[in-house]
Amino acid sequence: MVDRVARVGCLNNERTTRGRIAPVSSQDITLQLACRGDAPAIASMSRDMIEVGLGWQYRTQRICELIDDPEAVTLVAREGEALTGFAIMSFGNERAHLVLLAVRQACRRRGIARRMTQWLIESAATAGIATVHVELRDQNRAAYALYRTLGFSETLRLPGYYRGREAAIRMLRLLRPPGLTLPRWSPPVL
Ligand SMILES: CC(C)(COP(=O)(O)OP(=O)(O)OC[C@H]1O[C@@H](n2cnc3c(N)ncnc32)[C@H](O)[C@@H]1OP(=O)(O)O)[C@@H](O)C(=O)NCCC(=O)NCCS
Repeated sequence: MVDRVARVGCLNNERTTRGRIAPVSSQDITLQLACRGDAPAIASMSRDMIEVGLGWQYRTQRICELIDDPEAVTLVAREGEALTGFAIMSFGNERAHLVLLAVRQACRRRGIARRMTQWLIESAATAGIATVHVELRDQNRAAYALYRTLGFSETLRLPGYYRGREAAIRMLRLLRPPGLTLPRWSPPVL
């Protein structure tokens, strides 16, 4: 389903030349499918950036399962060998779910999350998915703003969604009218 590699631009604040921040060209960040070797880094980013204060659910083993899952796509953004961000989407018949998304602090506000999410949304649209769903902590202003720019609408507030302690906001992006019967695909006749 997902077979394209996209490139995005980034300024990496950790990269400096003689004390000045060196710009990283658009060639330096690559989006690609994750491999099992990425699982420990993804798991620790989830623990430190997404699941803070909620208990660590997405450990290395769980991330490996998602990477191996044929119904899910785990995308990573890399600068050289370094993993700067990741996004995981699971795909059903009509619904896709954005499971996890994070970008390292030093590389934020450079469009990496937007590019990864758009890449997954385009894949979902190509696969005939009708709706993309995501839940976020109700105080997560950055994620809320990001999803709004990507065409998501807030559908529900879920009090106590996170371990009975914290509310979630559920958001949805409509790709096509749900329930529409798509024409059956058949290979082209040559
Ligand atoms: C949310 C997160 C993934 C955004 O990553 P990012 O790469 O910085 O986002 P982008 O640069 O692609 O931002 C795209 C747009 O989203 C909005 N946005 C992103 N971060 C924002 C912030 N902190 N405040 C306000 N708007 C923000 C802006 O509209 C931005 O466009 P602009 O920079 O041109 O104004 C990142 O902040 C993060 O990893 N947070 C911790 C983990 C997390 O909350 N994950 C989401 C769980 S649901």
